[in-house]
Amino acid sequence: MSMTILGAGNMARGIGTRLVAGGNSLTLMSRDPQEGATLAAERQAGADNGALVQAAPFGSPLRDDVVILVVPYTAEAENIQQHHAQLPGKMLVNITNPLNATQDGLATPPGSSDAEEIARMVPPAARVVKAFNTTFARTLVEAGGLRGIDTGQLSRARQLEEMGFLDITLQGPLGTHFMSVWKLLFP
Ligand SMILES: NC(=O)c1ccc[n+]([C@@H]2O[C@H](COP(=O)([O-])OP(=O)(O)OC[C@H]3O[C@@H](n4cnc5c(N)ncnc54)[C@H](OP(=O)(O)O)[C@@H]3O)[C@@H](O)[C@H]2O)c1
Repeated sequence: MSMTILGAGNMARGIGTRLVAGGNSLTLMSRDPQEGATLAAERQAGADNGALVQAAPFGSPLRDDVVILVVPYTAEAENIQQHHAQLPGKMLVNITNPLNATQDGLATPPGSSDAEEIARMVPPAARVVKAFNTTFARTLVEAGGLRGIDTGQLSRARQLEEMGFLDITLQGPLGTHFMSVWKLLFP
């Protein structure tokens, strides 16, 4: 499968690592061409099963059916607006932990979630999925062996975003430097 990541920061590195290890080809779109090229070369080195990784400037046409938005919460709306006309038929993956300005709570309105707010911004023929927000970038790079769990309807994003926020608040007290993440234990 081929996917596009919008953004080239920490989570682009983490998610990109897992995607290419699973044999998925990747286009990394970045505002900084040098940063994008470096990240693409690094991910290509870790690619499996013929996965190809390329960098492209921000604003290039979105060719893949799956687009992962990997920018700060405050930059999401402008990015969706910018790509709006290209989104029908695509799956937009929202990974954000929408922290408020003081980082002591979520910025989203009660009874909603960032993912649901985004679903209202995209064209009706686009689908929004919440994913990856309950992990951290370094965990994605180093852990491997992860299994995705389908948690159901998009409103489950409310719980996922609260889980992400709680885990962030625990990093200081636990002293685990953004390396301790939720794990679901199976019988
Ligand atoms: N870090 C984590 O462990 C973690 C875990 C779960 C979820 N998340 C979520 O992942 C998202 C990204 O976090 P991150 O840690 O990867 O951040 P980051 O390292 O700061 O990277 C952010 C990326 O977004 C780009 N960007 C910033 N503003 C933009 C704009 N207005 N238009 C286009 N691109 C823009 C940056 O480009 P420039 O370099 O050009 O500024 C950079 O490539 C956030 O929503 C965060 O809540 C992060």
